[in-house]
Amino acid sequence: MIAWASPSKLAVLGISGSGRKRSYNSALLEAAKQLLPQNTTLEIVDISGLPLYNQDLEHDMPEVVKEFKKKIRGADAILIATPEHNYSITAILKNAIERGNRPPRVTSWSGKPAAIISASTSLRGGARAQLHLRQIMIDLNMYPINSLCYWSRMLKTSSMKSVS
Ligand SMILES: Cc1cc2nc3c(=O)[nH]c(=O)nc-3n(C[C@H](O)[C@H](O)[C@H](O)COP(=O)(O)O)c2cc1C
Repeated sequence: MIAWASPSKLAVLGISGSGRKRSYNSALLEAAKQLLPQNTTLEIVDISGLPLYNQDLEHDMPEVVKEFKKKIRGADAILIATPEHNYSITAILKNAIERGNRPPRVTSWSGKPAAIISASTSLRGGARAQLHLRQIMIDLNMYPINSLCYWSRMLKTSSMKSVS
């Protein structure tokens, strides 16, 4: 069940699906800090260092994973800025999702309201990744806002040029 009653303070946990230093999606999250309603905080957590999920090891939880799950549980809502990789979300975001969702009795996402934003260098601005993420959130028993919150097409910068 979701606690929709308006709390006096709202703590939002922000997650960027990119580990890139000059990530547009991480920048989007930073920009969101300037648009927060009153009594709302946005803490951004870095998921790029979470160890790769492996079901054989899920009960032996590293401290960094425990800390991540605690942050999810302590948040009133989740804001995810996702890049689009091969029509879907990135590997590091999927890894963070698995980490938050396991082991079975220690799921952390369940019941959390969520919003999804994206920036991509393609014309569709990450819309397909947003759709995939919304589908994953159904399985996590999260409550994503269904309408497109924000997507943006970014122009490639010289720092993103392929070296091949
Ligand atoms: C491996 C890879 C796959 C990608 N696949 C897609 C894609 O399917 N659709 C898309 O819109 N952009 C795709 N892109 C472009 C990313 O959306 C773009 O690099 C984006 O800026 C990454 O987000 P970031 O700036 O937050 O790192 C891909 C980029 C990489 C590196």
